[in-house]
Amino acid sequence: MDAIRIIGGRPLRGSITVQGSKNAALPMMAAALLHEGVTVLHNCPRIADVFYMEEILRELGADTFWSGHSLHLDCRQICHACVKQDYTNKMRSSVILLGALLGRKKQGTIGYPGGCVIGQRPVDLHLQVLRGLGARIQESEEKICADAKQMHGGCFVFPRKSVGATEQGMLAAVAIPEETQLLNCACEPEILWLERLLNAMGADVRGARDGRIRIRGGRRLRDCEFWVPPDRIVAGTYLCASAITRGVITLCNPPGEEMDAFLEVYQKMGGQYKFIGGKLVADSRRAFKPVNFVETAEYPGFPTDLQSPLMAVLTAAHGKSHIRENIFEDRFKAAYELRKMGAGIELSGRDAWIQGGSLRGNSVEAQELRGGAALVLAGLAAEGETIVRGASYIERGYETICEDLESLGGRIERYR
Ligand code: UD1
Repeated sequence: MDAIRIIGGRPLRGSITVQGSKNAALPMMAAALLHEGVTVLHNCPRIADVFYMEEILRELGADTFWSGHSLHLDCRQICHACVKQDYTNKMRSSVILLGALLGRKKQGTIGYPGGCVIGQRPVDLHLQVLRGLGARIQESEEKICADAKQMHGGCFVFPRKSVGATEQGMLAAVAIPEETQLLNCACEPEILWLERLLNAMGADVRGARDGRIRIRGGRRLRDCEFWVPPDRIVAGTYLCASAITRGVITLCNPPGEEMDAFLEVYQKMGGQYKFIGGKLVADSRRAFKPVNFVETAEYPGFPTDLQSPLMAVLTAAHGKSHIRENIFEDRFKAAYELRKMGAGIELSGRDAWIQGGSLRGNSVEAQELRGGAALVLAGLAAEGETIVRGASYIERGYETICEDLESLGGRIERYR
């Protein structure tokens, strides 16, 4: 059975090392395609989305293998330039391969990604930036075909911020032998990590921290080895797990300043934390307070990916809290399942009001990655047994969530 079984009620205690970041690793894998050589990503998470991306790269002609958590990507022979719709449907973020394919093969075709469970998630900004750099693009219902014959540098201003479209523009511009400026870019840390990797490969990319990216393209790229940073969303999820169980946990490799917005809310709820010798010790033993108002925002604001885990924590904090989701229009699905566990949640459009109380175990269904993780957290705090079905959604982003939470004292197991 594709499920996780949890017996709630035990505070988490202990230390944990956070896995490598999914959202940093995926664009890095796309970047490897730009180089006719070998890129090695150390500390790469062994999760379903990374395996999908690896499978796509193999279909395109790459030779890949793992040694432990090091993923070797040999892209010397890329013979295809088409990513089938099966893949783009399974994993929307594979759409960023289009920019890399334009760079590497001067043409690319990808299946049209459909809607998605957390919202419509259009790709208009991805196509706008490529068109802005001169790519010729033809769209049909099932696929997007692009060619790079007339691509050029210049300046492109994003009308709205998008993480994926910023990465798309960066990947495409690295191969254009002119200067490109991308303005009003998203500033998420994963974009800065992509900049660092591209520079380690020999590219010349600056400005990702400020959202004004300048790329001097056309440089010869070289083989490189790079460390994927720890996953700030997994780190935040584990702090939420400790918070909902009133535990004390230490993150051995915290993602540092990337967690500031989350830690601010954690502190408002009554959590205490300290950085000691590079580790983050988070103490959630005090009574937890509700939060008046938290809204998701682009970085450095509160991350949308931690909205559902936070909601789970607030269902167990006595009093009324208010969350607003500003990034994705349909990201409250977990709330319906949390209600089955006794959570008092009212929804209206982008707003959720949560009346904290106590939770009881039930059989619930994960429908997407972060919402699914939120249900696991609720199970850790609930009275009795919780079964979370749809565990494979959760495993798309969390490599060893059951083992990790069990090592911290949670009573949790994966049904196989
Ligand atoms: C990335 C992350 C995801 C995170 C999100 C926001 C990866 C693999 N995924 O997703 O975990 O939740 O950033 O931090 O890194 N939009 C458009 N047109 C587009 C592209 C996006 O309207 O062409 C909209 C989206 O529907 C959404 C908003 O822009 O409402 C932000 O999306 P975006 O930043 O692009 O998120 P992703 O890159 O898809």
